[in-house]
Amino acid sequence: MENDKSKQYIYIVQASLEPSKCKIGKTDNLERRLNEYNSMTGKSQENFYRFLFTCEVSDMAAVEKEIKAGFSKFREKKSREIYFFNDDLFDDYVNFIKSHKLFVEEIFIKTEENKPVVKTVKKATPSLKERGLSSKDLLQKAQMVKNDEFYTRYEDVEKELSMYDKSIWENKIVFCNCDDAVDNADDRKNSAFALYFRKHFKELGLKKLICTHYAGKVDLFNQGLKAYVAYISYTTDGENIHKDYPKGYDGSFDHPLSLKILREEADIVCTNPPFSRAIDYWEITIKSGKKFIIISNIINPITPAFIPYFKDNRIWAGYNRVDYFLNPKRQLTDAAGHWYTNFPIKDRPKYELLKIMPLKDIPEKHKKYDDSKTLLVDNCYIPSNIKKPFAVSARPILNGLLEKGYKIIEENESYVAFVNGKKCFRRVLVQKI
Ligand SMILES: C[S@@+](CC[C@H](N)C(=O)[O-])C[C@H]1O[C@@H](n2cnc3c(N)ncnc32)[C@H](O)[C@@H]1O
Repeated sequence: MENDKSKQYIYIVQASLEPSKCKIGKTDNLERRLNEYNSMTGKSQENFYRFLFTCEVSDMAAVEKEIKAGFSKFREKKSREIYFFNDDLFDDYVNFIKSHKLFVEEIFIKTEENKPVVKTVKKATPSLKERGLSSKDLLQKAQMVKNDEFYTRYEDVEKELSMYDKSIWENKIVFCNCDDAVDNADDRKNSAFALYFRKHFKELGLKKLICTHYAGKVDLFNQGLKAYVAYISYTTDGENIHKDYPKGYDGSFDHPLSLKILREEADIVCTNPPFSRAIDYWEITIKSGKKFIIISNIINPITPAFIPYFKDNRIWAGYNRVDYFLNPKRQLTDAAGHWYTNFPIKDRPKYELLKIMPLKDIPEKHKKYDDSKTLLVDNCYIPSNIKKPFAVSARPILNGLLEKGYKIIEENESYVAFVNGKKCFRRVLVQKI
């Protein structure tokens, strides 16, 4: 496969389980790109990506831009890289590219079919339901037993980060500070965060990327026992990676060196921190005053330690939830994660899931009063004409309720409702402003 870094390529790639779609993109390394699709996406053994067409061009950004404009009708609205696919459309895509003035030559690559690196959990493994667990239980369990060893999938990082206005990254130093390993030779030894920022470094206009490797008991990314700080920048010669192995450094986000980098260098913090240390991580990150986009448990908006941050508008939900991680064997694992940030969320798409209406219009089965006569609403139904506090689950908060004229009224506690003397789920009390 072609690997010459000075060359630029356009490709059409397709997942075996999604024959009605394909992705069209640009890269300076076809092999790495295909590996990213197959090893970082968490696809199952039956689902593998292969190139349908690859060619060299003299300016990949320009060609890609014109493809996007020329075939805008055939692109998925949400995932801008995805194009609809059938034989006729494929011919159109290829003809368009081949007749472009910047087209150099077609490259023929022998695809090693059906060789994905990621495996899914074997069928014999009981499902969460069979084990009587929900994915929330699993993350809470991880929090308790200190099982922090999950990989974030590349596609989840890409899906979230690509939704922010590109200008937020311009000339910024991004700090990935929870075992975000960097490896030049093997993509699988990079965290998905490191890989995303390395891949999009120039496009985002980053100034620098700083990633730390944590020297914990589990060496998730096979980076050895020594912690390091990796500094990534771009010079006229291309990507420049410099790794420092300071004496006594353990790579922890709360090590003095990590805190110094956070304080003095970082503009934006971005990672999936260990669940068992989420309380400390949130405190340090939020108090630093830096911008951040991070993953954490989906129930944080109703968890006592985190409620004050939502109440004071110091953090809010990002765009997406995170339903899967990869375990150390790179098997798909259910997750109950969500993105959180302090960047503005533009026209939050999930507002439309909030059903704000007069109390009388909320279906009976979605409203009830608990033993203390507090109103409980579920399924994202929100009363618009009630002045008194009422209790909601995490979901409406994640869908932007606090941006729609409602506020959290508790200080440090989540609300536990009792109905007929029976303890119900945890909730949070909110009130119309
Ligand atoms: C959920 S994993 C995510 C790993 C990687 N950031 C990713 O997104 O794929 C959390 C990682 O943080 C590491 N970790 C545990 N304690 C840490 C600490 N105090 N400081 C930094 N990283 C830590 C764990 O070993 C684990 O690799």
